[in-house]
Amino acid sequence: MVTFGNTSSAGVPEAFANETLVLPLNDSEALQSCFEQFGKEIACVIIEPIPANNGLLLQELSFLKELRETCTKFGALLFFDEVISGFRVAFSGAAEYYGIAPDLVTYGKIIGGGLPVGAYGAKKEIMASVAPDGPVYQAGTLSGNPVAMAAGLAQLTELSKPGFYEDQERRTKLFTDQINSHAKTKGYAFELVTIGSIFWISFDNSKHIRSAEEINPDMTNFKHLHLALLEEGFYMGPSGYEVGFISQAHTDEILETAAQHFIAALDRIMN
Ligand SMILES: Cc1ncc(COP(=O)(O)O)c(C=O)c1O
Repeated sequence: MVTFGNTSSAGVPEAFANETLVLPLNDSEALQSCFEQFGKEIACVIIEPIPANNGLLLQELSFLKELRETCTKFGALLFFDEVISGFRVAFSGAAEYYGIAPDLVTYGKIIGGGLPVGAYGAKKEIMASVAPDGPVYQAGTLSGNPVAMAAGLAQLTELSKPGFYEDQERRTKLFTDQINSHAKTKGYAFELVTIGSIFWISFDNSKHIRSAEEINPDMTNFKHLHLALLEEGFYMGPSGYEVGFISQAHTDEILETAAQHFIAALDRIMN
């Protein structure tokens, strides 16, 4: 179903929202019918290639590829929002992980090494539209802030060391595999969904959840688990819609201990 975007926040004029079409994730039919109807008017498709803002909604690779092909076919730009996925699954984000080249990309969070930095990039001909080369003016008080740039550079230097991402994924799996195999043995309706160094707590292991509508809105189990984890000495993100991240600071030893406490918390709430 293709729906017109509604403003979800006060202060966004309806006229702006009316310029936007909202499509369900991982839905090839909706994508095709939208492009058949509005193809010529669509300037750009924006998607988190690894939607991680509202659950971890891993898209089928075939859907992402179809999105790329459809944008190319209709002359629309493909914009990857990699604010969360950027630098967490590969140095060049989901674009590298899936082998799909977007036309534009945006990063936040990790790119600043914890300091406030956001960045966007695009193909050369698109970036040539930005001042001083082109007519699109972009500047800001904090743009290019030297301290933030130094932090970002230091961060990116660490991330670009050989084997960094292989090790991130190995350590993430060290944590998630133990918990998932325990949950499976016990027959719990529970799963840590994971990609790269990202994981998400799901109390539904019956299917791959690929859209927000498929998430069970009853967060009772999550609340109980969150509390049980606090009692075990572990503070997870306080919302069942938030993802978690494994960082370089999490050593094998820390992750082994964390997994054991997680399992203890899980057993307490599931039994
Ligand atoms: C997926 C995604 N895109 C964009 C943003 C906005 O990023 P920023 O606050 O750096 O503008 C966020 C913020 O958390 C986000 O999660």
